[in-house]
Amino acid sequence: MSSDTPNEPVISFQNVSIGFDMGDVLSGLSFSVAHQETKVLIGESGTGKTLTLKLAAGLLRPDSGTVRMLGRDLATLSERELLAFRRQIGFVFQEGALFDSLTVADNVAYSLREEHVSEDEIAPRVLESLRFVEMEHTLEKLPGELSGGMRRRVSIARALVSRPQVVLYDSPTAGLDPVTSQTIITLILRLRDTQGVTSVLATHRLQDAFGLANYRFDGETGRVVPISNNGNARKTGAATNFVVLRGGKVYFEGSPQLIEQSRDDYLRRFLL
Ligand SMILES: Nc1ncnc2c1ncn2[C@@H]1O[C@H](COP(=O)(O)OP(=O)(O)O)[C@@H](O)[C@H]1O
Ligand SMILES: [Mg+2]
Repeated sequence: MSSDTPNEPVISFQNVSIGFDMGDVLSGLSFSVAHQETKVLIGESGTGKTLTLKLAAGLLRPDSGTVRMLGRDLATLSERELLAFRRQIGFVFQEGALFDSLTVADNVAYSLREEHVSEDEIAPRVLESLRFVEMEHTLEKLPGELSGGMRRRVSIARALVSRPQVVLYDSPTAGLDPVTSQTIITLILRLRDTQGVTSVLATHRLQDAFGLANYRFDGETGRVVPISNNGNARKTGAATNFVVLRGGKVYFEGSPQLIEQSRDDYLRRFLL
């Protein structure tokens, strides 16, 4: 069914526009995400980061332009095909968006139950996902009993449980203190480096982006280590690149080094 070709980007936006009563929010947005790449979407509040992720997930349709993901033009998919498509991607919503009345285990199991996966299979997969985020001790807790950082971990476990090829993270560190933010970023890079997922991460924190770009998870030692500049670390293929949104378009696209060296006043605001 899928028409994957080896060099086709995993995600591509071509001239995508979407607007509301107040006018266009995205107007001619184009960018693409390669296999196993982490694309960091940076932009001030209201620049359309969340909209971009929702368009990528097929939760919204653009007014014009084309969104392609995993070899499919999303506009050509029926509602049923879209549901099947969404099972291949994980979405970590802004603020986590857990169901408050369900236990942690039931939150993580939710999408599997919707897919009618057998309970025999659900239990070990829920445990595996919660172990990955080091939250297996909270199975029977309610989200309200957890700290903000723990809830964010659970929402990552929930996105992982379907073993997605692509994970979309909407501001995963928003509202968290710097230390907790770093633990979330470490989790995201562990996922990238152990499972090889392709991801898009929206944030207004440039530190998040540099954390992803400058460190990698070393499977042999189980530690997060700096990526050296001489290129050997790039052999994981896990490149991190930025897309800076401004005025509904891509204002800047490129590597972390390029953004760090930039003299552009608008970009430098994010570096402070
Ligand atoms: N469903 C909607 N109806 C009307 N306006 C919307 C809707 N969704 C988003 N917007 C507007 O689009 C703009 C971009 O929103 P968003 O993607 O949430 O920005 P960001 O995530 O970068 O902060 C905001 O001004 C928001 O008010
Ligand atoms: Mg947002």
